[in-house]
Amino acid sequence: MNVSGHTLDLFGPSEAALRTGAAAPPPPERLADGAVLLRGFALADEALWREALDAIVQAAPLQQMVTPGGHTMQVRTTSCGTWGWTSAESGYRYARLNPLTGQPWPALPEAFRRLAHDAAALAGFPGFDPDACLVNRYAPGTRLSLHQDRHERDLRQPVVSVSWGVPAVFLFGGLQRSDRALRLTLQHGDVLVWGGPARLRFHGVMPIAPAHHPAFGPDRVNLTFRRAF
Ligand code: SIN
Ligand code: FE2
Repeated sequence: MNVSGHTLDLFGPSEAALRTGAAAPPPPERLADGAVLLRGFALADEALWREALDAIVQAAPLQQMVTPGGHTMQVRTTSCGTWGWTSAESGYRYARLNPLTGQPWPALPEAFRRLAHDAAALAGFPGFDPDACLVNRYAPGTRLSLHQDRHERDLRQPVVSVSWGVPAVFLFGGLQRSDRALRLTLQHGDVLVWGGPARLRFHGVMPIAPAHHPAFGPDRVNLTFRRAF
């Protein structure tokens, strides 16, 4: 639109972005029914997240859990929130106490809760109030095999995933393990939401390729927010 020599860009950067000089975040990408990718959605609060993550890992150190099949997981995990995701030979379950320390998990930081809520709302899931956050740290070469997240009580609640550090190729499959998976590169600060008809889609992570991130070194860190109960 051009009015008296000025170009008015109705869909240009927001006022806040113009003030700070930051680029406007790209619009939400709909990947499938119930699955939305929000590129760079967490970036604005990066410093705060790093600080909160450091405190969580200090109180609840990353651990390599054992799968029900008796294998040691490659990924190192911890949790925050009322419920922590745990795996043992006896099965997967959400637990109030950290099996490593015998203590409750660190509280879910308010900024984490807000971002997960806002991302879910943008993806079409208003009112999301997570009570569990699983933290996964992937060293180079680490992968996560295809699985469904189905140990939460109310499957109408979505899963919100936030990625930090080096990129990962995320496999977003279908409702059957054998369905062809979409390959999606998740970058530092990206947020992915899946719920509704996408809630039980199989997903996983390809082996992390060697790379370097200024804040996370060679690793990738992913946080998934869930409503466990
Ligand atoms: C998960 O499925 O628990 C984690 C997914 C990811 O690391 O992106
Ligand atoms: Fe998962």
